Amino acid sequence: MEVGAPEFEAHPGRGRFNAAFFYVMDGYINWHLRRHKEAVYADLPRTVVEIGSGVGANFRYVQPGTKVIAVEPNPYMHRSLRVAAERHGIELEIRDVVGERIDLPDSSADAVISSLVLCTVANPSQVVSEVHRVLRPGGRYSYLEHVAAEDGTLTRRVQRVVRRPWAWVFEGCSCERDLETMIRSAGFSSVENRSYRIHSPFVPFNTQIAGTAVA
Ligand SMILES: C[S@@+](CC[C@H](N)C(=O)[O-])C[C@H]1O[C@@H](n2cnc3c(N)ncnc32)[C@H](O)[C@@H]1O
Repeated sequence: MEVGAPEFEAHPGRGRFNAAFFYVMDGYINWHLRRHKEAVYADLPRTVVEIGSGVGANFRYVQPGTKVIAVEPNPYMHRSLRVAAERHGIELEIRDVVGERIDLPDSSADAVISSLVLCTVANPSQVVSEVHRVLRPGGRYSYLEHVAAEDGTLTRRVQRVVRRPWAWVFEGCSCERDLETMIRSAGFSSVENRSYRIHSPFVPFNTQIAGTAVA
């Protein structure tokens, strides 16, 4: 049986596997991403909307006492997410909806954050358009994502080869998206984006971007 938000089908096996994977790998992934996250998530306001919070990997980057509205449609993530919120002193509100349809009013958020989410959502441009809609003018969207490597590189070939098994294991995740272009064409007034490479054994995941777009 599939469970979750209406437009999101959380697979009982892979949904649980991904919750466990990101819980177990949290420290290792954070070790690779820390300096990029410290840069983009600096000075967040006291209320933050997070798309695809998973098991709370980004709670260490928000001040204790912050309210996080977590748009997280995978119910298998929710228990660890609540535990992480308690550990970091965060006031957590979980919205069991998809990022393609955020149940918040227009211009209601000062800041939206996400990490490793636009690779997985069914419709990344719809998610970014929703982020833009809920941000007040001047509000910020701070993101970190893995993206397609440059054409012609070995990493790009590996991304192509592992496409299907990778998407199966990681519930739809694609390592072949040009998310920088997508964010830049979403109507933000400015986008500061940095492309970089990490050196993990998960080669298709190593080409990344991090930045902030202002509504
Ligand atoms: C690869 S995990 C990343 C989790 C966390 N942000 C992190 O950095 O560890 C992707 C997350 O996006 C969530 N997700 C998948 N589809 C989504 C959608 N349409 N809208 C919002 N979140 C979604 C998944 O449930 C999962 O928690």
